[in-house]
Amino acid sequence: MDDIDFRAMVVTETAEKKFTREIKQRQINDLPDGDVLINVQYSSLNYKDALSASGNKGVTRKYPHTPGIDAAGVVSDSKSPDFKLGEQVLVTGYDLGMNTSGGYAEYIRVPAHWVVKLPQNLTLRESMVYGTAGFTAALSCFKLINSGVTPDKGPVLVTGATGGVGSIATAILAKSGYEVVAVNGIVDEAEYLLQLGAKEVINIADADDQSGRPLLKPRWAGAIDTVAGNLLSTAIKTTQYGGAVTCCGNVGSTELHSSIFPFILNGITLLGIDSVNCPVDMRMQVWNRVASDWKLEHLDKITTELPSLEALDERIELILAGKSRGRAIVKIP
Ligand SMILES: NC(=O)c1ccc[n+]([C@@H]2O[C@H](COP(=O)([O-])OP(=O)(O)OC[C@H]3O[C@@H](n4cnc5c(N)ncnc54)[C@H](OP(=O)(O)O)[C@@H]3O)[C@@H](O)[C@H]2O)c1
Repeated sequence: MDDIDFRAMVVTETAEKKFTREIKQRQINDLPDGDVLINVQYSSLNYKDALSASGNKGVTRKYPHTPGIDAAGVVSDSKSPDFKLGEQVLVTGYDLGMNTSGGYAEYIRVPAHWVVKLPQNLTLRESMVYGTAGFTAALSCFKLINSGVTPDKGPVLVTGATGGVGSIATAILAKSGYEVVAVNGIVDEAEYLLQLGAKEVINIADADDQSGRPLLKPRWAGAIDTVAGNLLSTAIKTTQYGGAVTCCGNVGSTELHSSIFPFILNGITLLGIDSVNCPVDMRMQVWNRVASDWKLEHLDKITTELPSLEALDERIELILAGKSRGRAIVKIP
């Protein structure tokens, strides 16, 4: 098995400190040790992949490297009693595609505790339409709902709503009966957001308080934030008594400035979202919701499927230029 050749994207650092991307032949014994060898059928594209594929050392320290933080496929070899040959599985998060050879390849080899059995009622392809972004969206909804935010309590705000995380969070909440107010920024995507199920679309200025006041008139039962900075502070101070706000991303900023008043006077809960090391029991609960009552019927509306590893290059550039919308997956023949 170890001498089988397979195809993979390989990002290499040149002597001039530039980074090149090529599709190359690799061998199974080039892969890191691990319990489960997976023949990858689909992977997906996330912002973190674009960073890893373009030489961002905050994501990937050493090159040559194969990116791809998500992978779905079939078990080809297993040292773990939990996974048998031919079983359909998926991997998102942990170190996959960061400093461990990732999903932009026909094979990955990973520790057993990273591997999730594909839930019933979800195909390998669908699991990658969700991928890390969709899992993060679902985890945000899971935590928000478990904190007691119910549809009857009022509207829920979603920031960065046209992005991978925001699109799927909007659709899951709408499907679950929530009135979603989606924040749309630079490019007018109101039609797209309404199709996903948003009840109302507002612009950034309407969700970006400049008054400096510690508390504002309550508008939301809860909020899912992917942007951070002043949009997150505004969400916190406009959430009603007892509500909750999730925080997963930093597309706008890595800062959060807030007084303590929303927390000590309104009892607001701030929920941190980490999809990377999310414990396996919660991971399984979230994937099972994704495959059942949160399963989205019109995923193709938000999905671009790339036919091969070769097609990744162009899409990576699009993500780096901030011009991608929704989700992109890649089929690995
Ligand atoms: N915590 C975790 O485990 C985890 C996992 C996955 C992703 N993330 C993070 O979550 C965030 C969202 O990921 P994503 O995949 O959804 O990203 P994305 O697809 O790039 O979307 C981000 C969206 O944010 C909006 N936006 C961009 N710049 C903005 C700004 N300055 N102010 C307000 N809105 C802005 C854009 O919408 P408009 O065009 O409408 O402006 C864009 O569609 C990222 O920071 C990512 O790193 C975290």
